[in-house]
Amino acid sequence: MSSVNSQPVVAKLTTSAIFLVLTLKPEPAHRAVVRGLCADLSGLLRAIGFRDQQGQLSCVMGFGSEAWDHLFGQPRPAELHPFQEIQGKHHAVSTPGDILFHIRARSMDLCFELATQLMSRLGDAVATVDEVHGFKYFDERDLLGFVDGTENPVDQAAVDAAIIGAEDAAFAGGSYVIVQKYLHDLKAWNAVPVEVQENIIGRAKLSDIEMEDSVKPSYAHSALTTIEENGEQLEIVRDNMPFGEVGKGEFGTYFIGYARSPRRIEQMLENMFIGRPPGNYDRLLDFSKAVTGSLFFVPSASFLDAVSD
Ligand code: HEM
Repeated sequence: MSSVNSQPVVAKLTTSAIFLVLTLKPEPAHRAVVRGLCADLSGLLRAIGFRDQQGQLSCVMGFGSEAWDHLFGQPRPAELHPFQEIQGKHHAVSTPGDILFHIRARSMDLCFELATQLMSRLGDAVATVDEVHGFKYFDERDLLGFVDGTENPVDQAAVDAAIIGAEDAAFAGGSYVIVQKYLHDLKAWNAVPVEVQENIIGRAKLSDIEMEDSVKPSYAHSALTTIEENGEQLEIVRDNMPFGEVGKGEFGTYFIGYARSPRRIEQMLENMFIGRPPGNYDRLLDFSKAVTGSLFFVPSASFLDAVSD
């Protein structure tokens, strides 16, 4: 495994990001265009990233289940499948997505330049189904006003949470990612007393201190997304970003979660949307609507480098 390099799934949080979700056009000639870009991605990143050395430019490229078969065929990652919608108290929709680019940097110019270069390379091989430009909002807060990302694993713990190892040796160094675009009803949220909001998240709003287990409600977001297997916590790596358009009254959180198995993210989603136990759902969803949902496999950087066009 030591010779396999991962894509920068476990990158430092940045102040800017672009999330691009694309679908592939069916014409066979387009396959070569996308495969060509896979091999050239690291070079493009080097060329743009070198121009601003403090800029922390990084890019993760992921592939949906059907797109994987079309682009790469066999073998396929053990747990790659389309995002399954969830119908509970609220609805987690499943929406189209063949390719994901998660572009991060300290400034938007770097993200924008890379996105432009990627799209000009792909040309009419793809259609854009969603493009979100995320920004950092004060001290890592989401637009609901809570600090978001605190309990993320870091360093080796992040690698252990997100990067595939021996369990799928052919795809070691890879990862799975689920993205969902959430839109908030801020008017309704802001009408909720802060103490009630804190119960919904499970942390203090101003100080970000976690509630004691004895007082934290079992429906709190941070309780429902804490899951265990054989006494061990199953973690994921998140890099949510606020986005929006004030003129449209659009205020959102782009959720992005990486894990070595999609199952743990799906389990969290079931807890949120259906509830644990069923009915004890995440009240955050009374104010936040998931309008997209897709699952992608993120092969290792070594895999991408070796793709021939
Ligand atoms: C509207 C969308 C969402 C918002 C605004 C949001 C916000 C937050 C906030 C404020 C926290 C507490 C601070 C922290 O530890 O990061 C948190 C924790 C967390 N969230 Fe979310 N989240 C959203 C969606 C999701 C989804 C869809 C998942 C997983 C499928 C998820 C998984 C987690 C996890 C694992 C934690 C840490 C729990 C812990 O260990 O305490 N979140 N989220």
